[in-house]
Amino acid sequence: MNQYFDNNEKLDSEIKEFFVKVNDINMYLYTDNGVFNKKGLDFGTRVLLENIDISNKESFLDVGCGCGPIGFFLLLSGKENVDMVDVNNRAINLTKIGLKKNHIKANVFNSDIYSSVTSKYDMIITNPPIHAGKAKIYEIVRGSIDHLNDNGELWLVIRKDQGAKSLISDNSDVLNFEIIDKIKGFWIIKGIKK
Ligand SMILES: C[S@@+](CC[C@H](N)C(=O)[O-])C[C@H]1O[C@@H](n2cnc3c(N)ncnc32)[C@H](O)[C@@H]1O
Repeated sequence: MNQYFDNNEKLDSEIKEFFVKVNDINMYLYTDNGVFNKKGLDFGTRVLLENIDISNKESFLDVGCGCGPIGFFLLLSGKENVDMVDVNNRAINLTKIGLKKNHIKANVFNSDIYSSVTSKYDMIITNPPIHAGKAKIYEIVRGSIDHLNDNGELWLVIRKDQGAKSLISDNSDVLNFEIIDKIKGFWIIKGIKK
């Protein structure tokens, strides 16, 4: 079975537009078969964005951007330095469509986690690809320290039953974690680079 992060060029394309409002930010998302956000904004992404503190942060990396809601939220909140990566080319294309339609600009490129990322950021944000497996999730978490500026922060959302607790305990040697909130089983977690 194909996963939403596979590149399957044979899937029919059926692009749909969704209007989404998060806090006071309005955005349009473009989704398609074979991408994560097929039905619009994910609840986990919503609670992450509703709780994230982006004040005093200038540069951002959205890891596993999908059709772009995290990066779009940052840009529409007035941030200018936003990079967005995914391994799914269809997701990258949808993100590029969304950027144009929302009249915003970001640097979007294909990268297996950080493999093509060369910069450092004040904040790395992700709703991680759980189905890619624990090793990939931990690659995002542990690899963040090489791509965060001093005092940089990794923010992520993960469900309790998808290993939120062990993610914190297994990686607390590299990041100081804080649980920002727990909403309907979704944990919003901040990790500050040690
Ligand atoms: C849970 S979805 C989140 C999508 C979007 N950020 C959102 O919040 O709606 C995870 C995303 O990670 C992408 N992904 C999976 N494996 C990846 C990898 N190795 N490197 C980068 N992105 C990956 C998937 O294609 C998918 O778009």
